Amino acid sequence: MTSIGLFDSGIGGFSVLKETLKLLPGVKTYYISDDAHAPYGDKSEDYILERSQVLTKMLLEEKKVDLIVVACNTATAVAIAELRKVYPQIPFVGIEPYLNIQKRYHSDDPHRRFVVLTTARTGKSEKFKKLKEMLDPDHKIDHYGMERLATLIEDAYYNGMNQNLKEEIEKDLLPLKEKNYTHVILGCTHYPLISSLIESYLKVECINPAPYVALRVQNLLLEAGKIHLPLVGKQGDFSFLSTQEGSWKEMNEKEFSL
Ligand code: DGL
Repeated sequence: MTSIGLFDSGIGGFSVLKETLKLLPGVKTYYISDDAHAPYGDKSEDYILERSQVLTKMLLEEKKVDLIVVACNTATAVAIAELRKVYPQIPFVGIEPYLNIQKRYHSDDPHRRFVVLTTARTGKSEKFKKLKEMLDPDHKIDHYGMERLATLIEDAYYNGMNQNLKEEIEKDLLPLKEKNYTHVILGCTHYPLISSLIESYLKVECINPAPYVALRVQNLLLEAGKIHLPLVGKQGDFSFLSTQEGSWKEMNEKEFSL
């Protein structure tokens, strides 16, 4: 049976998983939340690279997956090039903020104002800096490296979104409030999980690249002959491992909304 693996520092990659599950009925999916080592956003590049290698090895050796989705912007920025070098036979799909959208949307309406949110580590990475320079050479898109937003979202997933957490999240978003942004480009996979909160608090539209990532995964599997159209099979189930708990369990996508 064709199988894929996804990993993230925590449950942020669920925003990608939600999309891959939709497009890949009948494909066995394994998801690792590296919560024993989260967040990644304040860690060194060496640390994130090492964790990415450990998780990749688990997915390949224990689960023999056909493709790996690095469902984390931070790990993509820091580790995906090295993973592709070490495992040239395995397709890796990463995730990056959809900066390109600014040009398209701006030509429709020049009053639109864009900001991209990432973790601190992604913001400092060479990969992100190069991407920003290439796709936004005129610096039309502002950038904020968020120190603790992913951790607050993780907390909301495990303990429920309460008033206190909501206020903490709004406190983090406060510096963006008076800037009259119209669009927030989400550069961390945790952020789409609270996009409705971001949209209502900042009165913006959020841009989430996850549906495009899922499409890329589907295309690669089709090209490799690992799946065939029309796609049939069970949808929504996946195996989940939290590195804090240490054992795989079966889950359904209905269990993971915030
Ligand atoms: N969800 C991750 C990302 O896309 C990492 C967040 C974190 O652990 O800091 O960047």
